[in-house]
Amino acid sequence: MGINKWFMKILGLVILERHLSFCLMIQSLDGTWNVKNIQKGYKFNGTVPGGIYTDLMHNNVIGDIFYEYEDINTRWVSKVNWNYSKIFFVDEGVLLHTNIHLVFDGLDTFSNVFVNNIKIGTTENMFVRYVFDVAPYLSLGSNTVEVRFISPVIKSRELFKKQSEEYVVPPLCVPAEYNGECHVNHIRKMQASFGWDWGPAFPSMGIWKNVYLQAYNSTILVDVTTFITLNDTENVWNLQLNTYFEESKNNVILGELKVTLITELAEISELYNISVSKNENGELLWTRNITVRKTYVNLWWPNGYGNPSLSTLIVTFTSTEHQERSERVLKIGFRTVELVQNEIENGRTFYFKINNVPIYVKGSNIIPISILPELGQNETRIQFLLQSARDANMNMLRVWGGGVYESDVFYKLADELGLLIWQDFMFACSMYPVDEHFLKSVTDEVTYQVRRLQYHPSIVVWAASNENEAALRQNWYGTNTNFSIYKRDFKTLYVDTVQKEVLLKDNTRPFLTSSPTNGIGSQREDYVAKDPQSHFYGDVHFYNYLIDGFKQSLYPISRFASEYGYQSLPSVETLLTATNDSNNLGIFDNFLRHRQHHLFGYIEMDLLISYQLKLPDYNSPNFNKAYIFYSQIVQAMSVKMATEKFRRWRSNVNDIGEGLTMGALYWQLNDVWAAPSWSSIGLPICIVLFA
Ligand SMILES: *[C@@H]1O[C@H](CO)[C@@H](O)[C@H](O)[C@H]1NC(C)=O
Ligand SMILES: *[C@@H]1O[C@H](CO)[C@@H](O)[C@H](O)[C@H]1NC(C)=O
Ligand SMILES: *[C@@H]1O[C@H](CO)[C@@H](O)[C@H](O)[C@H]1NC(C)=O
Ligand SMILES: *[C@@H]1O[C@H](CO)[C@@H](O)[C@H](O)[C@H]1NC(C)=O
Ligand SMILES: *[C@@H]1O[C@H](CO)[C@@H](O)[C@H](O)[C@H]1NC(C)=O
Ligand SMILES: *[C@@H]1O[C@H](CO)[C@@H](O)[C@H](O)[C@H]1NC(C)=O
Ligand SMILES: *[C@@H]1O[C@H](CO)[C@@H](O)[C@H](O)[C@H]1NC(C)=O
Ligand SMILES: *[C@@H]1O[C@H](CO)[C@@H](O)[C@H](O)[C@H]1NC(C)=O
Ligand SMILES: *[C@@H]1O[C@H](CO)[C@@H](O)[C@H](O)[C@H]1NC(C)=O
Repeated sequence: MGINKWFMKILGLVILERHLSFCLMIQSLDGTWNVKNIQKGYKFNGTVPGGIYTDLMHNNVIGDIFYEYEDINTRWVSKVNWNYSKIFFVDEGVLLHTNIHLVFDGLDTFSNVFVNNIKIGTTENMFVRYVFDVAPYLSLGSNTVEVRFISPVIKSRELFKKQSEEYVVPPLCVPAEYNGECHVNHIRKMQASFGWDWGPAFPSMGIWKNVYLQAYNSTILVDVTTFITLNDTENVWNLQLNTYFEESKNNVILGELKVTLITELAEISELYNISVSKNENGELLWTRNITVRKTYVNLWWPNGYGNPSLSTLIVTFTSTEHQERSERVLKIGFRTVELVQNEIENGRTFYFKINNVPIYVKGSNIIPISILPELGQNETRIQFLLQSARDANMNMLRVWGGGVYESDVFYKLADELGLLIWQDFMFACSMYPVDEHFLKSVTDEVTYQVRRLQYHPSIVVWAASNENEAALRQNWYGTNTNFSIYKRDFKTLYVDTVQKEVLLKDNTRPFLTSSPTNGIGSQREDYVAKDPQSHFYGDVHFYNYLIDGFKQSLYPISRFASEYGYQSLPSVETLLTATNDSNNLGIFDNFLRHRQHHLFGYIEMDLLISYQLKLPDYNSPNFNKAYIFYSQIVQAMSVKMATEKFRRWRSNVNDIGEGLTMGALYWQLNDVWAAPSWSSIGLPICIVLFA
């Protein structure tokens, strides 16, 4: 019947087999696809889920892209188009359904999609799931699907030109030392894929998540969100269950919904006859409150405060008319979260309370698991990074806004390990367009991601952007001459669009419009505070590469430090995975200069070392090794010094009202290639920095 059970497990979707002949059907189209570029004469097999760089490597068209200068040598890949196609077979069982969809869980990024040579849609946002109605286009037997990808580098340039007829949305490009590409802020794609100060540019293309056909007469249960709140007066938890169903040609969906909650202490089961029709937002949504006695559940606690106890929630829908069943199985956690911003003598506090206990946040910022989105799904790598964070006694990771919304397995592991997640939306270090088309795409993205991620207890705050309030206020991109235009756009995007959509889908978590921000303080200043880095409100990002990193007096006394750090070089062993020439390992050699994307990076590294150590002798044969080692010592010690200061100010307030610091997230946990960066865990060798 073409049903791949393993695949459905991955989707979290279990199709029961009792009424197989009346069943909805899911047919995976993952696996081998044909990849072509006619103009360049390439034709080879690709793998889905995957991407063009991994496919080209597997077919030996290009070598290891992480080697030496291959990021530059292979840049041509991103500037041409690529066609992915597949022949697949459709049987009567599929065609008998009134709804037949072709679903892409993730397409990176611009493409035209064809079925049997008929265009069925276009795509432009790698962070949304695309569902195309293909019922009119399929035929019995052999069919073809083709995704014609368009270069994101060329597409972003076109969009930039079009927008610039009104006014320019800066920056015009990433800094020259990134060796990157321009205008990524005009497209909804991993912002770091066009280059960053810690990583290479690989403007990827591809089908980076599962692709499948789904066929049904009634509907499919797609997402379940859970609003869990405590009713102290009644001694119960209120679990508001929100079940979202897939688009259907039926106007009214009738069926039976079975909800089972299995906690460590009890099992609760409820059966409902439901009738669902589209709400004002065009969604098929059914909502019900379930009361769970406090004594039935153990609390979910962050690492260091107790067990991260999880319960299993099984939601099964069976349609009345066709007995079509679909099911979602989730692990949920019972906990409360609050971001406490109480007024104090000068400013406001800024700290998280979980289950009414103030939490001192300790942790790091995580950048994408891989610079290639398809490799970022690797569970082994994710497990290694999150386990390392837990083992180092961290209790929070910030999923930074220049990467991707991470994979389901990422958040599942965070839930299990008791790691709190600060979740940014994917906007970083830029101004962004706010035309109607762009905002519609962002709305779809926020809706999809919040519906997908909401139930995870690990996520404790949504934040709309990385550093964009500070960038605007401090004129990083020359926006001051037209400040009011960019401020209007800031509010349109992060307040009227992102925040509005988030609160519609999840009113159970705090929301911030940026990081750093003054939180309520910024709100009171119409969302762009005079000083978004204020020590008296919200969070700060602190970087000063001129100071002696060991001098604790030079670190700010703020409410919460969500970024701070210093660069170091990777170990010799790590560097030798990216070059086989041991003469390449000096900071004056072309290889390491090529990989230094931070302006003045080595000058600052010199300075940080020389405050504490005698710089190694350049003429000594051990210079490279010694320099690398020294850079790591001063990085580790400086981060330790900063962190200890932030922790020491937990309970203190000074004369001017600074203090009550309740969070320390250093920059950055991981790396995507072997290069000088702020990371404490390199590739592939692990150095856990502070325990
Ligand atoms: C779906 O509905 C169509 C049209 O009503 C019907 O012919 C078909 O048998 C139904 N398919 C299933 C699998 O129930
Ligand atoms: C993709 O296929 C279309 C239709 O055959 C063709 O016009 C186009 O040139 C192809 N693109 C590439 C990159 O091969
Ligand atoms: C491509 O994949 C198909 C189907 O799996 C296989 O039959 C064929 O041999 C592969 N071609 C190459 C060149 O590997
Ligand atoms: C708690 O439950 C009582 C009784 O059902 C209800 O009146 C009250 O609004 C609930 N409080 C909260 C915070 O949900
Ligand atoms: C659902 O409806 C059916 C048919 O009307 C009825 O037999 C059944 O008792 C109802 N179940 C619930 C839980 O209300
Ligand atoms: C569920 O509970 C929430 C929070 O107590 C309340 O706001 C909402 O109206 C309730 N919804 C339903 C359908 O009863
Ligand atoms: C995932 O990463 C591990 C460790 O880097 C590697 O050994 C493994 O082959 C990868 N798995 C897949 C499916 O790519
Ligand atoms: C300011 O915006 C106006 C359009 O509103 C534009 O004509 C002008 O060039 C902009 N100035 C700068 C310096 O960007
Ligand atoms: C490094 O590898 C390249 C091929 O990948 C080879 O040509 C070169 O000789 C190697 N260099 C050293 C120092 O081994």
